Amino acid sequence: MNFFGIMDEMFKDFEEYQDIQKGKGIRGKLITIIDPNAQKLAAVVESIHLASLLHDDVIDEADTRRGVKSINAKYGDFTAVMLGDILYSRAFYELIEFGSEIAKTVSNAVYLLSQGELEDVKLSNSINLDKDKYMQMIYKKTASLIEASCSAAAISAGLDRDKFALYGKNIGIAFQIIDDLLDITQDEKTLGKPNMHDFYEGKTTLPYIYLFEVLNEEDKEKLMKLYRKKLDKSEKEWIRNKMDEFGIIQKCYNEAKELVKSAKNAIKEFNIPALEIIADKVVDREF
Ligand code: FPP
Ligand code: MG
Repeated sequence: MNFFGIMDEMFKDFEEYQDIQKGKGIRGKLITIIDPNAQKLAAVVESIHLASLLHDDVIDEADTRRGVKSINAKYGDFTAVMLGDILYSRAFYELIEFGSEIAKTVSNAVYLLSQGELEDVKLSNSINLDKDKYMQMIYKKTASLIEASCSAAAISAGLDRDKFALYGKNIGIAFQIIDDLLDITQDEKTLGKPNMHDFYEGKTTLPYIYLFEVLNEEDKEKLMKLYRKKLDKSEKEWIRNKMDEFGIIQKCYNEAKELVKSAKNAIKEFNIPALEIIADKVVDREF
């Protein structure tokens, strides 16, 4: 049985679970490419990831997830939080069987991703123009669990955990940079959620940080006024045009591409084409 099948089996008693839209399963795919015998470990990590998204949608007050109504929108915040706790605690119960090295690696990542989410919330209270703070936050919020997935799978397969961890960390950071870019470049239909929503939620993601660096005083002020505002079509276009004028999208995209290059370099001696394909897909994707 593959990891999605194992998850369905684990959570078959919970009717609301059936309404959770399956994602790309990147973490699970990475784990099972590195160790094809680690389907159960992949199910554990994917369950933790799903739990974190259930909680994240409550925190972000998101109505949609992956193109369908989010669990919080459909059943309310309490159900979403508790369903998240069910997935999370069952995952930890199962994690124990993998031994302390793997269990520590994965649980430390959950500790980090929770800190990352808290930092994200705090950074969203006012405009953040500090790139280091943004990079720290996305490392914790997104890359830490991807890093731990690769590291844990390498331990399970008897491979060099540090090299696979570095691969995971770099594609994880690139993944979030691209996620933040897609929020700007894609339309609502492709994203399965409203576009240019991050700025409205208070999130000054990398493209906005770079834009603030290059705008003149007048335009800076104009951009400040759009922060946390429900943007109309012309305001969205203004931001997009300014980003195009200064090559901001390309700059962020190149940065993500560099990270992917380092990721592939870290594990090139193992010659695993599937991991190179996933790394490329992290940057070259539409949603
Ligand atoms: C999505 O970010 C959120 C995360 C990757 C991490 C969320 C972590 C927690 C809520 C901590 C609690 C953890 C557990 C295991 C219960 P985003 O809002 O930028 O992405 P989105 O656009 O997909 O919502
Ligand atoms: Mg969110």
